[in-house]
Amino acid sequence: MQLVDGFARIGEENAFAVLARAQELASAGKDVINLGIGQPDFQTPAHIVEAAVQALKNGEHGYTPATGIPALKEAVAAELNERYSGANVSPDSVAIVPGGKVTMFAAILMFGEPGVEILYPDPGFPIYRSMIEFTGATPVPIPIRESNGFAFSASETLSLINEKTRLLILNSPANPCGGITPKEEIDKLVAGLESHPNVTILSDEIYDRMVYDNEQHTSLLTYASIKDRLILLNGWSKTYAMTGWRLGYSIWPDECLDAMRKLAVNAWSCVNTPAQFAALAAITGPQDSVTTMVDTFDERRRYVVEALNQLPGVSCITPKGAFYAFPNIKDTGWQSKKLATALLEEAGVATIGGPDFGILGEGYLRVSYANSLPNIKLAVERINHFLNENSPA
Ligand SMILES: Cc1ncc(COP(=O)(O)O)c(C=O)c1O
Repeated sequence: MQLVDGFARIGEENAFAVLARAQELASAGKDVINLGIGQPDFQTPAHIVEAAVQALKNGEHGYTPATGIPALKEAVAAELNERYSGANVSPDSVAIVPGGKVTMFAAILMFGEPGVEILYPDPGFPIYRSMIEFTGATPVPIPIRESNGFAFSASETLSLINEKTRLLILNSPANPCGGITPKEEIDKLVAGLESHPNVTILSDEIYDRMVYDNEQHTSLLTYASIKDRLILLNGWSKTYAMTGWRLGYSIWPDECLDAMRKLAVNAWSCVNTPAQFAALAAITGPQDSVTTMVDTFDERRRYVVEALNQLPGVSCITPKGAFYAFPNIKDTGWQSKKLATALLEEAGVATIGGPDFGILGEGYLRVSYANSLPNIKLAVERINHFLNENSPA
């Protein structure tokens, strides 16, 4: 059997392996606190679940148009236009997809091939690099530095662009570092992109509603100068605690729309129909569950940052978005992945080693605070005990 070359290069997401190991340890009777996984520890709000149930009862269980039911595409466009003045999103440019990941999969497939370069954040969501490698394109990491508050640097990003660059992937608020790129920096980046008209931009804004300390999320949708080459990735997974529903949406420039529709027809036909009705209820219904969830994350964020900073050899800057802290562990003397494994196996705390998000992740751990405050407290106590009792392996 000979698989195409891409499968020798495709990567994966270690968070899923850590989750599986944590579950295995738990079923063997070990008490494990999971600060590894990137999913809200909240229930999908009841009115959203009810909308899916009602849809099924109403007989909404057949195929829909490949890029989604018109009412949902209209609602997505209306919601974005209301939230971001100047966005001017047309319902026709919306594609409903089975999860946020599917937009990156589609965009990278559309632009990646041998001989071209694709820029992506490092540390960053691991699937960007994995998919770039799959297509045979050259992955070019954009350093996301702690010294820059884990934000993109416009000048550094622009300096990496050359005539081979075809796609630029941005992510703010960001996984795994929790950084938010300030508006002034995005202004500079977009101004610089005017000299590179052949570069398409994929902006992953899946954490757009998870911002703290009165930060404002700046959507790339608000920049008219790049509208004809911007792909926006977003979805319901994080905002409405719907990771398992597999629901996402993207906004596509006119030139890509038909390619996107054809990809959907070839691969998934349409998104699960009752889930689309649930998605509609999520964005048109009450938003208080989102506020409550974000307020809860905020409280945990403050706690976890303070607690991590008390640990020997650990320092942690305050993340401004998403639900991750990215503590610097260099002074513990531990290598990141060794420490993450030891914490899971010996201390019963799941975290993810920084290198699972890119080369620049060495020296860091990703700590998801999508877990209850008592669990987070206990987890940090366990880490403290472990670091005090064990020398670096
Ligand atoms: C930055 C980022 N983009 C996209 C996704 C994918 O989201 P989904 O679960 O909807 O596929 C994630 C999930 O962790 C993420 O962190």
